[in-house]
Amino acid sequence: ATFSTGVMAQRYVVGTNASFPPFEYVEDGEIVGFDIDLVKEIAKLQGFEVEVRDISFDSLIPGLASGSLDIVAAGMTITADREKVIDFSDPYYSANQSVLVHEESDANLTVLFGNHDVGVQTGTTGDTWVRDNLLEDEILTGELRNYDSYVFVIRDLANGNIDAAVLDKPVAETYSQNNPVNVVAEIITGEEYGIAVGEGNEELLAEINAGLEKVKNNGTMEKLIQKYFE
Ligand code: ARG
Repeated sequence: ATFSTGVMAQRYVVGTNASFPPFEYVEDGEIVGFDIDLVKEIAKLQGFEVEVRDISFDSLIPGLASGSLDIVAAGMTITADREKVIDFSDPYYSANQSVLVHEESDANLTVLFGNHDVGVQTGTTGDTWVRDNLLEDEILTGELRNYDSYVFVIRDLANGNIDAAVLDKPVAETYSQNNPVNVVAEIITGEEYGIAVGEGNEELLAEINAGLEKVKNNGTMEKLIQKYFE
């Protein structure tokens, strides 16, 4: 008889939405980025395996709830509403929202006032911010256009189909490097990104926090920031 001496490593399914460079994007058919490297590094340190799946952003939280996903690594902001249904790791990155327009537009923050069409990714904090601060009070009277992928937000902005987009500033800046779009305003929302797990999955959350702590302390976090932001 043959006996296996090793124990199979636990394998977790990680959900993301890969239209959020440099945190997660598709390059040569592969899902890559800061969050992907981060979660793979944590997995290596803690001795588990990961398989990354690219799905729509608003399917990530339902995926954790149904058990089709174990982990979400998606530049996801820790919010009180989300904390009610999922659990977050310690924070790993800070960001604000921003306003992105066509590079030939002379618009500023006021592009969010009046009859303009604004694009957001469905279910994001940018989406919620526009609804709560602009639509509710009829400051914005044009259309709020909801997209599943930021790739199509950027395409519509470049084509002049929408007047502005509201999204996380580091991502808006990354898109502005290779597309005819510019960041014209920052909206100070003070967001912190966390890795998420299903509600009550304390064991996995402890593994992720332990790995994250090591990544922060052993210089890997700094290397990742250099790799993706400099
Ligand atoms: N930080 C924002 C939020 O949590 C946007 C995240 C979008 N992430 C993505 N991978 N598309 O709502």
